[in-house]
Amino acid sequence: MIFELPILKFEHDALEPYISARSIELHYGKVFRFYVNNVNRLMDEFKLTTGLLSIIKNRLGCPALYYNASEVWNHEFYFEQLSPSPKTMPEGNLLLEINRAFGSIDEFKNEFDRISISIFGSGYTWLSQQEDGTLIITQEANAKNPIIRNCKPLLSCDLWEHAYFVDYQCRRADYIANLWNIIDWDVIERRFDN
Ligand SMILES: [Fe+2]
Repeated sequence: MIFELPILKFEHDALEPYISARSIELHYGKVFRFYVNNVNRLMDEFKLTTGLLSIIKNRLGCPALYYNASEVWNHEFYFEQLSPSPKTMPEGNLLLEINRAFGSIDEFKNEFDRISISIFGSGYTWLSQQEDGTLIITQEANAKNPIIRNCKPLLSCDLWEHAYFVDYQCRRADYIANLWNIIDWDVIERRFDN
């Protein structure tokens, strides 16, 4: 199996002023491609033909394959939820669950921001649905994601410096705050309903 870089559904400059074309070119065009190439190389080395989820859940091959496969999955998930013309508010059952778990959409965003700002080093913040159906925000270091704890990821924030350093330098909080302007809740709702 050969993994390919997924096609972006927007132009590289479409997320400006929140994320610049230069940042997308580096993050999507270089970093994401680097992970895809690494997975293909290691899959070949270990003679594996399985999908990404199987590598991640079963830690097939070697640690480097697990981390690179997880990063391919994480980056496809991250870029998929971004849009220059997003649905700006969740509705329906997803909104009900957010309100149940966090009180309101604003309280949810505040908590997601607080957890995102506090991560030490590289990683991600995730909104996920647990096995009992309730929602949870977690912080995961490096390439990890909540799938390995049987959670269904709904929304993520890439907190590696490569995601924001070009545009925001050390102002991680500004990147996180601006990300809400391009998060497409239509995508998050579809993930929740699946
Ligand atoms: Fe990234």
